[in-house]
Amino acid sequence: MPNPSLLILPGDGIGPEVMAEVRKIIDWFEAKRGIAFDVSEDLVGGCAYDKHGTPLHDDTMARAQEVDAVLLGAVGGPKYDNLDFSVKPERGLLRLRKEMDLFSNLRPAQCFDALADFSSLKKDVVAGLDIMIVRELTSGVYFGEPRGIFEEGNERVGINTQRYTESEIDRVARSAFDLAMKRGKKLCSMEKANVMESGILWREVVTEVGKDYPEVELSHMYADAGAMQLTRWPKQFDVIVTDNLFGDLLSDLAAMLTGSLGMLPSASLGAPMNNGRPKALYEPVHGSAPDIAGQGKANPCACILSFAMALRYSFDMGDEADRLEKAVNDVLASGVRTADLLNEDGITPASTTEMGDAVIKALDASL
Ligand code: NAD
Ligand code: IPM
Ligand code: MN
Repeated sequence: MPNPSLLILPGDGIGPEVMAEVRKIIDWFEAKRGIAFDVSEDLVGGCAYDKHGTPLHDDTMARAQEVDAVLLGAVGGPKYDNLDFSVKPERGLLRLRKEMDLFSNLRPAQCFDALADFSSLKKDVVAGLDIMIVRELTSGVYFGEPRGIFEEGNERVGINTQRYTESEIDRVARSAFDLAMKRGKKLCSMEKANVMESGILWREVVTEVGKDYPEVELSHMYADAGAMQLTRWPKQFDVIVTDNLFGDLLSDLAAMLTGSLGMLPSASLGAPMNNGRPKALYEPVHGSAPDIAGQGKANPCACILSFAMALRYSFDMGDEADRLEKAVNDVLASGVRTADLLNEDGITPASTTEMGDAVIKALDASL
């Protein structure tokens, strides 16, 4: 059996910095656990534009379709802000998601015990928090037609279209119900059925799918009220399913419940391939963080935890994923923190590399 294959796309800004730490973790699993991957690396985003004039070369796209899993750092940055929309770094990431048909984006928000004190919310509200946001990722207003900037009379109009088919809602709802079955058997669906027809259809289809999952307690919430409830008492939720744009906003919000955007991983999953594994891309929820890029300040945990999700969802290695997540928690508990996880003066933050090294040490201690 060949080793499972991984395509690594570090991208821009802090992407390569946090991915360098993941490479150490991958090497550790090979050296200490005998779990070897066939790793290749390529460009995406602004760096791909710099080399090829496109944020995602066709060869990279083709490779992404072949491998067992893709790991991505982050794309974008001020250097590329004025590029034509069609070649912006973000288009590279959106093309990967769309062409790999990664319709189910899992964004867990888990409050590590060691960080309960750090959240901007009260400790009671976040301690022990463990929720999963399932964001639809290949449709909705991100991709709907018509779209563009058009002339209308003597002014311009910017248009994007929120569009969902029943089958698109059905498949992401099923992925969320399947997850709920493996977790707390509670699913809350969020849309705005009070003002949007696509929201009405969303609610109808999710309710219909729910009939196949009688054990799951299904509820519905308007997405604005959902945002409020997420900050008021997030522990009322287990799994949340929502559309592409609401999921983008709600997952950033949920990230801050846990302390920092630098902690939140994600998995983007599609239909099973011939080998039974889902098409998959793993990436931190955060972006390229231009404000701290190149300074060794970035928190690599979100990217490291994204690799843990790859172990769990692509490679059926839940125990090894648990081991890696525990190592991260142990490091945080020991007081080693990057700057985004510190608010007291006088404590020296760990650098990106020091944080990665500390996780390796904690992994060693787990043997
Ligand atoms: P961002 O997530 O890059 O940064 C927001 C804030 O969080 C910044 O202050 C940053 O320093 C901090 N932060 C983010 N990740 C961190 C980490 N690992 N450690 C410590 N601090 C961290 O969002 P933004 O500033 O809105 O966007 C910057 C660029 O990234 C834009 O070009 C945007 O399009 C892109 N972006 C890319 C992705 C992606 O590649 N998946 C996601 C979001 C944004
Ligand atoms: C995310 C990002 C992306 C999105 C951008 C960079 C295309 O914000 O992954 O959350 O909007 O989906
Ligand atoms: Mn986002």
